[in-house]
Amino acid sequence: MSQLYTNLAKVYHEIYQKLFDYDQEFKFYDKHLKENDVRSVLEIGCGTGNLAKRLINAKFDYFGVDLFQEMLDIAATNAHKEYFLQADVRSMKLDKTFDCVIITGRSISYLTENKGIIEALKCINNSLKMNGLLLFDAIDAEKMFLDFKEIRTDKLEVEFGQNKYKRVSKSKKNLSSGWTWDWESIYYQMNDYGIYEKIGEDFSTLRAFIKDELTLFLRMCGFELISILPKKSYAWEDNFYIVRKVAYDF
Ligand SMILES: C[S@@+](CC[C@H](N)C(=O)[O-])C[C@H]1O[C@@H](n2cnc3c(N)ncnc32)[C@H](O)[C@@H]1O
Repeated sequence: MSQLYTNLAKVYHEIYQKLFDYDQEFKFYDKHLKENDVRSVLEIGCGTGNLAKRLINAKFDYFGVDLFQEMLDIAATNAHKEYFLQADVRSMKLDKTFDCVIITGRSISYLTENKGIIEALKCINNSLKMNGLLLFDAIDAEKMFLDFKEIRTDKLEVEFGQNKYKRVSKSKKNLSSGWTWDWESIYYQMNDYGIYEKIGEDFSTLRAFIKDELTLFLRMCGFELISILPKKSYAWEDNFYIVRKVAYDF
């Protein structure tokens, strides 16, 4: 992870409001939270706070954590900074427990090593009340890798207000620590003369998951899987996991 969540945080904030439908995301989570009588919600990888502001407006008792302060600085313009904390999900220690933890926008993809996934699930377990709910989306490895050519390229152009952006991306199979791939993106913004100028680049390794491996990680960390639903998003297909804490971390 290099620039997308640091010096390109504002670009992320603008581009992703066109890639992710945050109103739809909110409706989706709101339905699951209400069905389960959830009041307090901890969001992991809350980014620039696009879901946070909707959950706070809907009167959930909300708290958000993200690894990058640059993302949280923008989130603080969406909702007060007291709602957010800079922390790594693999080592976070919070002084409160929640009815529900959500990991949104496929943020789990950044946990590329088994060790990191287990550390994160243990910290999440410690942040949940007993029988609390864990909801998250993860890119489906079976759908992604069955027809993943060695290199996949894509290009998109997005307009946000006066700003016009272009992103040119290359995804390359990696597989060194699970169902991982390397994602290189170059970001451009149109200048006053109508010409795209390069504004930054991002290199990340990301991970997709097969259902069985995630179910095993969850069981190892005191969770019980309730169900897995297909979930549509942009670019790749996701699975949505509904999970309950059934044991304290061990
Ligand atoms: C694809 S973005 C999703 C952001 C937000 N949920 C959204 O939907 O716009 C992934 C987010 O996960 C955060 N992230 C990555 N690794 C993390 C970690 N180890 N702990 C906490 N946050 C992390 C990134 O900083 C980034 O904001």
